[in-house]
Amino acid sequence: MEKKIIYSGIQPTGLVTLGNYIGALQNWLKFQDDENYQCIYSIADLHSLTVRQVPAEFRNRALSFFAQYLACGLDPQKNIMYFQSHVHEHAELTWILNCITYIGEASRMTQFKEKSQKHPDNINMGLMDYPVLMAADILLYNTALVPVGVDQKQHLEIARDLAIRFNNAYSPTFTVPEPLISKVGAKIMSLQNPTAKMSKSDTNANATVSILDSEDDIMRKFKKAVTDSDNEIRFGEDKPGVSNLITIYASCKSISIDDAVKELQGLSYASLKEAVGASVAELLAPIKSRYNDFMNDKEQLLAIAKNGQEQASYIARKTLRKVYKKVGLVQL
Ligand code: TRP
Repeated sequence: MEKKIIYSGIQPTGLVTLGNYIGALQNWLKFQDDENYQCIYSIADLHSLTVRQVPAEFRNRALSFFAQYLACGLDPQKNIMYFQSHVHEHAELTWILNCITYIGEASRMTQFKEKSQKHPDNINMGLMDYPVLMAADILLYNTALVPVGVDQKQHLEIARDLAIRFNNAYSPTFTVPEPLISKVGAKIMSLQNPTAKMSKSDTNANATVSILDSEDDIMRKFKKAVTDSDNEIRFGEDKPGVSNLITIYASCKSISIDDAVKELQGLSYASLKEAVGASVAELLAPIKSRYNDFMNDKEQLLAIAKNGQEQASYIARKTLRKVYKKVGLVQL
């Protein structure tokens, strides 16, 4: 049986957080050992240029993100891992897709409207084109499944629309991708506002834990975590702060929520926070050490990126060639 392609892009902005690790990466680690899937992950650096970046910082951050994902255990032997900007077919397919995308549908995107409001001085063409580039990412690789959070669902919808539109206008070319909404993989909330998701771009440093935070920082942030007004350790919708801590503990220890509640029962909130902080520090210690190894060997890091680029280009080139032919461009 042919493997199903799973594709995801990661923008190298903000931080890789504990929420990303528990919510997404832990699932990705399972996919890489599942022979039904071939996973492809890109650092979506071209997407990040829709917001102004400081070049030297941006370059370092993109490399650091790549190293962090490797350090988390994504294996470049099992997954195709590369930088979006290293495969020029992404930009080229974007152009073709632009020509079948309506300004109306692009300008109606929630994220476009939000980002336009946030950066009124820089409402650039790239910002409106963002979902088309994302569609190109996905469609170049015959992607069957895209793991998405709610914030990206609308973008996946437009990718599906464009695939169907192209297939109807020319002939069946693109696989129409489906969202992959995983049942496992817990949603980790902000430590400061446990009714909002832990976000990689949160401006309150105490709200998010970076996977590279020092043990001291981790313990300090958990000490300050928002809990509830009573002293009960119980999982429930009416207790978002404590429930979030229980979820984090359960994920770090790879145990069920019920078992976590049992283990934590009887602790004061202060001790609860300490226990959860310690479980996080223990989980992240080996990741940080692998990260440092990767960052101290840039040559190896770039060699991995080069290898990923070659594998991705091979697939992307074939798709783009087909597309160019179908739309009637002259072939040499
Ligand atoms: N827009 C996605 C995000 O910000 C990142 C992304 C870029 C992506 N290309 C993709 C996600 C392709 C899935 C598939 O989270």
